[in-house]
Amino acid sequence: MSGSLPLNYKTVILAMQGVWYKMENAPTSFLMGLSHVREVQIHQSLPSTNTYAKELLNSANDHGTVIWALEQTHGRGRLGRAWLSDSTSLTFSLIWRFPNYDKTALIPLAVGLGIVQALQIFSDELRVKWPNDVWAKGGKVAGILCESCRNEQGIWVIVGIGINVNQSAINASLGAVSLEELTGCPLPRLAVLIEALQGADHGLNRLLNGELDLSTDFERYGNFLHRRIILHSQGSLRPAIARRVLPDGRLVVEDEAGGLAVVMPDEVSLRFPE
Ligand code: BTN
Repeated sequence: MSGSLPLNYKTVILAMQGVWYKMENAPTSFLMGLSHVREVQIHQSLPSTNTYAKELLNSANDHGTVIWALEQTHGRGRLGRAWLSDSTSLTFSLIWRFPNYDKTALIPLAVGLGIVQALQIFSDELRVKWPNDVWAKGGKVAGILCESCRNEQGIWVIVGIGINVNQSAINASLGAVSLEELTGCPLPRLAVLIEALQGADHGLNRLLNGELDLSTDFERYGNFLHRRIILHSQGSLRPAIARRVLPDGRLVVEDEAGGLAVVMPDEVSLRFPE
């Protein structure tokens, strides 16, 4: 299949009629017509799409290759955690190549915001929990793990995305939320993949074109600002209030005595009090 795929509600309706269920089983790749998505490779099962993508890095698998695993057996999450998924989830990685590191640090935030904007087609309750978790109704819907590396061919960023598409025992056991819970109906994973790729592509375009405005974007699409949060870092828990996101992606927090501090996305994760 080649050319541009329609990216609107009709896409979802067609997919729900089962047209694209069949494609999930096709050992093929297809083109999307987006700036930073060149081809989608579909794999029946992989331990981790990020790990597989890293092993592929060379000029033959250039900027825009997507690795989609219908089943992922050893998914990895941020801060060394595991990412659990099953056949109800979407697990894929984008491979992007850059000439330098100038903008790569903001890719995780740009992609998180882009995905939340794109997935609004399914639910307008979706929000970003800094730095890039996708949340709705008090639970996590999707997570993003970005990993960069350098070799003779250039600087690469692997953007791994896991989305809870349909409801499963795994979601229930983790307190996670699925798109099925938000929409009230099961969704074909391919329809969600197409929307998510469009969102990731849009996020990267905005970053590269200087259009990303993290402070404003997180006010609009974030779920954490002006709220009590718990900062979790290497086993320590610290209460604070999230105040704003700086242009470089760091979060300004206010401690209980009213003092301000900035925290880095790589160092802390943010939780909400029970
Ligand atoms: C997180 O929230 O901790 C990030 C989770 C990222 C999971 C995705 S699933 C596809 C890709 N492959 C992996 O092993 N991890 C990412």
